[in-house]
Parts: sequence; C-alpha cells; structure tokens
Amino acid sequence: MPGYFSKNTDGLKIDGVPAEEIAEEYGTPVYVYSEDRIRDNYRRLRDALKERYEKVRILFSAKSNTNLSILNILKDEGANIDTVSVGEIFLAKKAGFDPDEILFTGMNLGDDEIDHLLGSDVKINVNSLSMLDRLLEKEVPSSISFRVNLQKGAGAHRHLITAGKNSKFGILEDDIIKAYRKALDSGVKNFGIHTHIGSGILDTDHHRRATEKLMDIAGKVKEKLGIGFEFIDIGGGIGIPYEPGEEEMDLEKFSRDVLTAFKEKSAEHGLGDPYFCMEPGRYIIGDAGIILTEVNTVKKTVSRKLAGIDAGLHTFIRPAMYDAYHHMIHAEKSKGNVETEKYDIMGPLCESSDFLGKERELPEIQEGDMLAICDTGAYGFTMSSNYNSMIRPPEVLVSGDSHTAIRESEDFEDLEKKQKIAEWLG
Ligand code: LLP
Repeated sequence: MPGYFSKNTDGLKIDGVPAEEIAEEYGTPVYVYSEDRIRDNYRRLRDALKERYEKVRILFSAKSNTNLSILNILKDEGANIDTVSVGEIFLAKKAGFDPDEILFTGMNLGDDEIDHLLGSDVKINVNSLSMLDRLLEKEVPSSISFRVNLQKGAGAHRHLITAGKNSKFGILEDDIIKAYRKALDSGVKNFGIHTHIGSGILDTDHHRRATEKLMDIAGKVKEKLGIGFEFIDIGGGIGIPYEPGEEEMDLEKFSRDVLTAFKEKSAEHGLGDPYFCMEPGRYIIGDAGIILTEVNTVKKTVSRKLAGIDAGLHTFIRPAMYDAYHHMIHAEKSKGNVETEKYDIMGPLCESSDFLGKERELPEIQEGDMLAICDTGAYGFTMSSNYNSMIRPPEVLVSGDSHTAIRESEDFEDLEKKQKIAEWLG
C-alpha cells in the first residue's frame, strides 16, 4: 500500500486527510488523488532513468487521466505529454503544455481532425501510411515520427496488448523505410521513432526486447536513408501491482536493462544521442488515486453475501471490462473487530457485469459503511460514463492536510444538456 494511504483504528486517511471528511464534503462515490504520490511516482521514474542517461523525456499519457489539475502537476514536474485525440491536445494546452511538448499518436482521423492537428503545431506520431499521405497532401509537418508495430506485444490482459501480427496499431517493419523515405522526400526535417507494445507490464524483459528491436529498426532507417533521430520513444506500459502480494516492477532493473540496450544499440548503429522517451500513464497516476464509495445495500444470494455500493461500472469500468482486480478496503474506523467475511461487491446498474470485486475478504460490512477501491487513478474517470443515466462523480485532490474539488460532480442537467427533442415531436 503506497505511503500516502494509511489506515489505523481511526479509519482511512489520504495523506493528512480522513476519508470520512472527504466523503462528508463531496459525497460518494468520489475519486480522490494524492498530489504527493503523483509527484513521487514521476520523480522516482525520472531519477532512475536520468541516473543512466541525461537526455530523457517522460511524456505523461493523458488517456490515463486528463484532469487539468493532474496535468498541471505533471507539467510542473517537467513532463511532456502523450495524446491520442484532438480533445486531449485541447486539454493538454489548457493545462499549459507547449505544442512542442505534446506528441500526438491518434489514428483513424477525419479530415477535420487532420486540419486541427496540423493547426495545433504539435509533434505528430504517424500510425499508418495512409495517415502519412493524408497529412502530406495538406501540409509538410516539421517533425514526424512513426509508430512501429514490432509484432510482439505484451500486457496484463489481451485487450491491453498493442502490438502483434494483426494489431491495429502502428506500421509494420516492412513498410517503415518506405514511410521515412516519403516523409524525407517531402521535406520533413526532424524525426523520431516510436512504439508502444502494451500495458500493465511488470516483467522488464518485454521493454528491454522492444527497445532493442526498435533501435535495430532505427539503425536500419539511418543506414538506408541517413536520417538522424531527435528522439526514440518506447511508449508506456509499466505495470503496477494491483493485488496484494504482487511484486512491483523492479525499477532499477528496468532502467538498467532498457537504457543499457538503448545506449549499446545507439553506439552500434551510430544513432548519436537522441532523447530517450517514455509514455507512462498507469505508473504515474494509477496508485495515486482511490474511489470512496458507500455501501447502501447488503443482501444474500443462494451462496453469496453481496454488498451493494454507489459506484458501478459507469464510475469505474476496469473490473467489468478487463476482469481487473482492484483491492478494496473498509474505510471506517475499526471497531477492534478483525473478523472477516467474503463479499461480492456490486454496483447499482442493471447489468450483470456490474461488479467491482468478487469474493473479497472484508470486515463485516453494514449499510452506510464506506469502502475504498484502490489504484483507480489511471483509466478511472477517463473511462467513466453516464450509462443508466448515472451522473459522473467529482474528483478531489489532496495535498498534505488540504483538499479541494478538481472536478465538480455532474448533476441531472448534465444528462440532458446536449439533447434536443425533435421539433416534429412537438
Ligand atoms: N502510449 C501509448 C501510445 C499508449 O497507447 C498507451 C496506452 C500509453 C502510452 C500508456 O500506457 P500505460 O503506461 O498507462 O500502460 N484502458 C486500459 C489501458 C489502455 C492503454 C492503451 N494505451 C486499462 O484500463 O488498463
């Protein structure tokens, strides 16, 4: 359990703030983030990498969390940012990122989106030959990188693997020379190369092998076309331990193995000293966030005890979507009673996949109790929805003993805001 998160007989605290105080002030369900933990996570990764190589850029992966205050903290730490939609570019700029600190790796763009992208002056990471042609038809960007599909991915769930023979992501190695040649012939001046093999990876060998492979491909491009790379980006994907007993990724080993491969291959292929880039999302924000939720129903099935909470798959979809485990703790003051029971924790939606946890060993739960769903900072709020016409929850930032809402709760008006009743219906 990360340090920002502590529980004693007085109940759960996030840094210096009792969970109870947050629930009282903002209601439940509520996303709560620790500013200290976000900064610690960023600095730990940065320091481990910079210790071995000076030219490191960390691009926070916006898809994991786009709250403007969170982006602001990472901007303040010196991060750049990885975006995949023009909406994310919009938010990154709102949070203060300069265009040259923003890398765009989106795909399947409409013409309007291409115009918007070119007009926004960000760095463009190209996902297909078709996208390259469509960009070049309109304008020659000053900087281009290509996302390479290394054909071997990894990830904590099959949906989290983003490379492979039939993956939708990136450009195959066989087409990569053609892609760089076209960009070069069109007058592009600055180049990068990129890959992202998948998410939730705890075994450092996957990233080491991907780095070696990507560097070999960069070497081939350099040899054939004489292109020099301003940056080499191995994407995100560092996992975090979600289940008790699961080991965290060995950061020292990661930075040693990956950067040794990076430096050796740079030297072998005469690539000079390009920036080494990474795009972590989960590693930075995953364990810096929790959801506080209230139990409002306790009931039984034939063989189970169920605790019904006010958060569901509309609040947090990872358990339903990836069968993901998220640890839960009873946030209340402990009454000295440590006896536990097994509960399934269910959400309020009319959807049988709406469970946040199954067979969880927890102290006796009573209606009105509060639970914390852990490690929900990444891919939490950004994947929430209004399904069943539920409103999205607020987000709260804790810093030491202070807390503040960094997003207000939606209300019913938000549910109808963009809707119109067709005129002919009267
Ligand atoms: N860079 C690129 C190009 C990506 O596609 C991704 C994630 C990242 C960086 C950041 O990956 P991370 O360090 O956070 O693993 N919704 C899923 C995760 C999907 C991630 C897709 N791409 C989940 O809840 O686990």
